Amino acid sequence: MTKKITFLGIETSCDETAAAIIRENDKDTADVLSNIVSSQISEHRKFGGVVPELAARAHLENIEYVIKAALKESKISLNKIDGIAATAGPGLIVCLTVGLNIGKSIAAFSKKPFVAVNHLEGHALSPGLEYNIQFPYLLLLISGGHSQFLIVKDINRYEQLGTTIDDALGEAFDKTAKMLDLGYPGGPSVEKASKLGDKNFFKLPEPIINKAGCNLSFAGLKTAVLRESKKINGNNELKFNLAASFQNTINKILYKKTSIAIEMFKKKINTSDINLVVAGGVAANISIRENLKKLSKEKGFKIVYPDIKFCGDNAAMIAWAGIQRFKKNLSNKIDIEAKSRWPLDKDAPFMKGPGLKL
Ligand code: KG4
Ligand code: ZN
Repeated sequence: MTKKITFLGIETSCDETAAAIIRENDKDTADVLSNIVSSQISEHRKFGGVVPELAARAHLENIEYVIKAALKESKISLNKIDGIAATAGPGLIVCLTVGLNIGKSIAAFSKKPFVAVNHLEGHALSPGLEYNIQFPYLLLLISGGHSQFLIVKDINRYEQLGTTIDDALGEAFDKTAKMLDLGYPGGPSVEKASKLGDKNFFKLPEPIINKAGCNLSFAGLKTAVLRESKKINGNNELKFNLAASFQNTINKILYKKTSIAIEMFKKKINTSDINLVVAGGVAANISIRENLKKLSKEKGFKIVYPDIKFCGDNAAMIAWAGIQRFKKNLSNKIDIEAKSRWPLDKDAPFMKGPGLKL
C-alpha cells in the first residue's frame, strides 16, 4: 500500500482566510480532515466590496487562529503532515503575502516541503477532492476575478479556449447586486432575488454571443443593468424582475458559449467521454448548474460540479492542488514570491484592452 499524502493548505488571496488538512484516500480522492473558512463578509459589507487593506489586516488577524483550528479539527499534529501548500497568486499581493509567508515559515521551521499554488489551479482541480475524473477535461472556471474555458490536460498543463474580454462573471453579479441594492456578497443575493421575478421582463444584451468563439463579455450587460436600474424607483417587483432577467441572460450566454467550448474541445481531444467541470465561486449558482445540466443532456457530455463548499474560495482545494504538485515534484523553494497575475495557460493571448480583435 502506497503512503497517503497529507497536506496543510492555506488560502488568503482575496477575502476568505482559510486553512485545511487534506489526506489522499484509497478512492484516489481526498479525505477532508478539516476545512476552515473565515469569511470577511461583515468587514466588507458596508463598502459593498472587498477593500484590499482591510482584507490584508483581517487575514493577519485571523490566519493563526484559522490554521490552529484546522490542525485541531483534523486531529493531526504538524509533524504528521507531509507538506504545506499556500496560494501564491493570482490576487491581491497584500493579501497573498499573509498566507504565503506563514506557509513558508511553517515549512521552514518544520523542515517540510512547500508548494506555492496557483489559486486558479486550486479551482481547476477542486472536483478531484470528491471525484476521480480522468484528464483531459473541459473546465468552465467562473469566479470573482476570472471567467475562462480551459482544457485541463494534466496537473500544471492547461490550454485556454476562451476568457472574458472585460469583467469576470462574479464581478457582474457583484455589481448587479450593488446597482439593485441587494446587499453584499452579490452573487447569492442576486440569485435569491432572481427567484422572485419575471425573467423575461427586461430585454438585456447578450454581448458577443454570436462571435469570438467561446470568449465571454459582461461589461455591456452590466451597463444595461445600470440603465434599467434607474427605472426601479424603490419598486421591488421591478427590482426582482431585473435580477431575474440578469440571471436569465447569464444562463443564455453560458449555454451558448459552453456549447461552443464543447465543440472546440471535441475537435482538439479525440474522446467520446467528455467531462465538463464547472468550478469557482459562481459555480455555486443553482440556476447556472441546472441550466448547464440541460445542455449536458442535450449534447451528451458529463457535467461535474464540486460541492458548494468547494466552489467559493477554500483551502481544501489549495491543499489538494499542493498534494498533486508535490507528487509531480513541483515543490517550491522558500524564496518564492506572490504574483498578482499568473495565468494557467501562459501562451494564451491577453484578451483585454484597446486594440483587441475578436
Ligand atoms: O471563487 P471565489 O470565491 O473567489 C474568487 O476567486 O474570485 O468567487 C467569488 C465570486 C463572487 O463574485 C461571488 O459573488 C460569486 O463568486 N458567487 C456567486 C454565488 N456565490 C458566490 N455568484 C452567483 N451566484 C452565487 N450563488
Ligand atoms: Zn477563487
